[in-house]
Amino acid sequence: MGKIICITGASSGIGLATALRFAREGWTVYAGTRHPERDQSLYKDEKNLQFVELEVTEPESMEQLMRQISREHGKLDVLFCNAGFGYIRALGQAPFSDIHRVFDTNVYGVMHTIRAALPLLTKSRGGHIIATSSVGGLVGQPMNEIYCASKFAVEGLLESLATYYKPRFNIDVTLLEPGAVATEFNKTVLDHIADTGGILEDEYKPVADAYTAAFLQRNAEPQTAASVAGVMWELVHMETKPLRIRTSERAEAFAAGKVSNDPTGLDGVLRTRKVMLNM
Ligand SMILES: NC(=O)c1ccc[n+]([C@@H]2O[C@H](COP(=O)([O-])OP(=O)(O)OC[C@H]3O[C@@H](n4cnc5c(N)ncnc54)[C@H](OP(=O)(O)O)[C@@H]3O)[C@@H](O)[C@H]2O)c1
Repeated sequence: MGKIICITGASSGIGLATALRFAREGWTVYAGTRHPERDQSLYKDEKNLQFVELEVTEPESMEQLMRQISREHGKLDVLFCNAGFGYIRALGQAPFSDIHRVFDTNVYGVMHTIRAALPLLTKSRGGHIIATSSVGGLVGQPMNEIYCASKFAVEGLLESLATYYKPRFNIDVTLLEPGAVATEFNKTVLDHIADTGGILEDEYKPVADAYTAAFLQRNAEPQTAASVAGVMWELVHMETKPLRIRTSERAEAFAAGKVSNDPTGLDGVLRTRKVMLNM
């Protein structure tokens, strides 16, 4: 039987590129989107690719999709929790409703997605959960504290699951850690800033200005989404799945201070498993 992957946030960027790559390689792809009709008609000539309605902040949305995959295939090989968005405002500036919005999608969305998929993954005997974190899930960054906190939470969640999902359920767990990627991500961030008064004239302005100037310089050549999809393709074929994988050399260099002692994260997982579970 062919392989099945379910991807959240597949309407654009990394999720869409991964959906297209896997479908063209012959996998059956369930591509989660908030605009299924629009996306299905855009990609109607693609074989193996089915866009399905998915809002990750609504658990029922994901549960319904899992029932559909279970009915149609009885198994799921890879769950790719990718939906998410960036957010730039200082903690001292952000309304709490914005902080909730970021965590609802970037953190609780991943939790809902994994919880809904777990019974099917467990039944599949050999599943793989991958979540898109970021180098911002490893390195805290100025004006990005809310986004980074959400990705640190995803890191903590998956690192914890990795300590026992493999030996208990035969499910691998991986954090995909991109640096800058050319997607709709920056537009979403910039639109939000523009819609909420631009760079504010307050005590954070010097930091925001310095950050913006350096950002434009650092991100002049972002990685393509197709290249990240290539990393995803390699990842699912690795014999030993890493806990962590950066998607480019620049991402690797940026996060080196945090991960150079244990680049794949597997040493840490094995150590914790031994100390806390004696496994
Ligand atoms: N691009 C980068 O530089 C970068 C770097 C590191 C990490 N990342 C991470 O990569 C992941 C993918 O982002 P991207 O760069 O590919 O950006 P993107 O092109 O903006 O794609 C984000 C996807 O997430 C979906 N999404 C957002 N909120 C959702 C929700 N509540 N329910 C369902 N879907 C939702 C979007 O759907 P709509 O089209 O309906 O909004 C879209 O399909 C994110 O987790 C992001 O944090 C990106």
